[in-house]
Amino acid sequence: MSARKIDGAAIAAEIRGELKDRVAALAAAGRAPCLAVVLVGDNPASALYVRSKVRAGAELGIRSIEVIRPVAATTEDVLEIVCGLNADPAVDGILVQLPLPPQVDAQRVLVAVDPGKDVDGFHPINVGNLVAGRPGFLPCTPAGIMAMLQRSGIPVAGQNAVVVGRSDIVGKPMALLLLRHDATVTIAHSRTRDLAAVCRRADLLVAAVGRPGLLGREHIKPGAVVVDVGSNKLTERAEVERFFAADPRRLAEFERRGSTWIGDVDPVAVRELASAFTPVPGGVGPLTIAMLMANTVAAAELRRR
Ligand code: GUN
Repeated sequence: MSARKIDGAAIAAEIRGELKDRVAALAAAGRAPCLAVVLVGDNPASALYVRSKVRAGAELGIRSIEVIRPVAATTEDVLEIVCGLNADPAVDGILVQLPLPPQVDAQRVLVAVDPGKDVDGFHPINVGNLVAGRPGFLPCTPAGIMAMLQRSGIPVAGQNAVVVGRSDIVGKPMALLLLRHDATVTIAHSRTRDLAAVCRRADLLVAAVGRPGLLGREHIKPGAVVVDVGSNKLTERAEVERFFAADPRRLAEFERRGSTWIGDVDPVAVRELASAFTPVPGGVGPLTIAMLMANTVAAAELRRR
């Protein structure tokens, strides 16, 4: 049996295509949606994410405002930016790129965002709405994964789902969304005893720990659906050869660029054992950005009512 590769990029393109008409309708009615992105510091991965978000918006006709501050910014500096964006009637969505530098109190910043502009779904009001099953903005990565499963015809109700990782951004909201869709949900994490045994019970395994290739053959039940949220950069030749020994394309990429990407799941094991899986790159990543666009369009529509 060879696993089906879920084409996240194609599904994301489909979702963005559906948003185009809604953006056009908002623009025709007077004003295109506007997303404000706040980036503090010079973390290259964060800068790359922000560029991708702004570019994806531009392709749909969503306006972006980028607010960039040096790595030495204080909590007060960031709060002042957020308050200004809250008060700006032209701004529909606000996204504060994480992680923030350690001296910035991220909790205070996230609570300061107007819940009606909180397109990341990180404000406690929106987290509470998710827990209570009420309408609200959903965090983009878990929402994107649900959309991907639905559009791929992968059943969730009644399935044993195991989410590995308990972050506020992915693990926790992912578990809550799977529960909302009637999965039987387990959250595993760094203190879980016999992680492999827990994972092997999963019909649907979601890996969101940020550890290259952590989940291997012993973690995957044959026939499981495996969603890999990890996005880890490999720069050591020995590691690249360990994971991609039989993949000449990846080895060539490493020779060319000095690095390659890997998820949290061993790429060989998942192809051999899963019934369907999301590749890295090209799986979950594009969905996250598509859902950010969807949240921004929804925020704009709600604010025009
Ligand atoms: N950093 C990593 N993922 C995310 C995300 O979804 N939103 C924000 N704001 N920062 C992130």
